[in-house]
Amino acid sequence: MGKDFTVLMSRDRTLIEEYLAKIFREESRYADLQEAMEYSLLAGGKRIRPVLTLEVCRMCGGNLQSALPFACGVEMIHTYSLIHDDLPAMDDDQLRRGRPTNHVVYGEATAILAGDGLLTAAFEQLSKAELPPERVVAAVGCLARNAGPGGMVGGQALDMAGEGRSMTRGELEQLQSLKTGALISAAAELGCIAAGGTEDERRKVRAYAQALGRAFQVQDDILDVTSTDEQLGKTVGSDRVNEKTTFVTALGLEGSRALVEELTKQAVEALTGFEQPEFLIWLAETLAKRTN
Ligand code: IPE
Ligand code: IPE
Ligand code: MG
Ligand code: MG
Ligand code: MG
Repeated sequence: MGKDFTVLMSRDRTLIEEYLAKIFREESRYADLQEAMEYSLLAGGKRIRPVLTLEVCRMCGGNLQSALPFACGVEMIHTYSLIHDDLPAMDDDQLRRGRPTNHVVYGEATAILAGDGLLTAAFEQLSKAELPPERVVAAVGCLARNAGPGGMVGGQALDMAGEGRSMTRGELEQLQSLKTGALISAAAELGCIAAGGTEDERRKVRAYAQALGRAFQVQDDILDVTSTDEQLGKTVGSDRVNEKTTFVTALGLEGSRALVEELTKQAVEALTGFEQPEFLIWLAETLAKRTN
């Protein structure tokens, strides 16, 4: 069973890689901006968010091709968030997706612009989806809300404001739900929107993805202390250097692992009522054990 899902996931990833590779190919190139955007976008991340969009779309009875612009738009926003997250003014990291970070190669000004470019171009991709206009509008609203000040960017603001001071469990949960949960939730919800899912389906999908997103960030905190640069493809130990409060500093490693399990169970339970939730159940359980 697990093997079939791995094959399905790599098929989705191929669709996503092919789509992403074409986005800027025909566009005019200004200085090193487009090269810098592609440097990070095509560096082979795990593509968890766009896979979620596609597979939620499938689970809700939709057509995968029609959801691809939504899926890739989410990945563009995620990539921009990583470029900015690594800047000297933020986490000041040198390694990302197995390569030197964007600002290390292109300089800070171009890295900032590459992020700006990806963020804006993401919404252009959403507008190109061949779907009923009301679904496109709903997707734009959903992604903007979850990626913006009330979502991921807000979470990053709390993350930066929290450096060097301790945080309550509640504050930490809010921070992580925003900085990571919101975009993962939008990725999943966009799949449901593309498929023309009902309000009830959207609510369930959101509950699944919010729990999954939180588990994903707790696991990210764990890997920052237990993994290696080679395995992760990014700088480990960054949280300690930047004096971040994470679930590892708050609960310890064992407590954090237990929390990943609990959140994964919550994610799986949220899918009750869907006819074919198997892949998304497998994905949640697989991500809970991830090592990169
Ligand atoms: C890293 O995300 C940032 C977090 C929100 C934890 P991923 O672990 O999905 O990074 P890529 O896309 O695989 O590089
Ligand atoms: C960043 O969280 C989440 C984003 C919104 C980019 P982290 O700072 O923990 O992500 P990594 O560990 O650098 O990938
Ligand atoms: Mg950060
Ligand atoms: Mg970081
Ligand atoms: Mg991290």
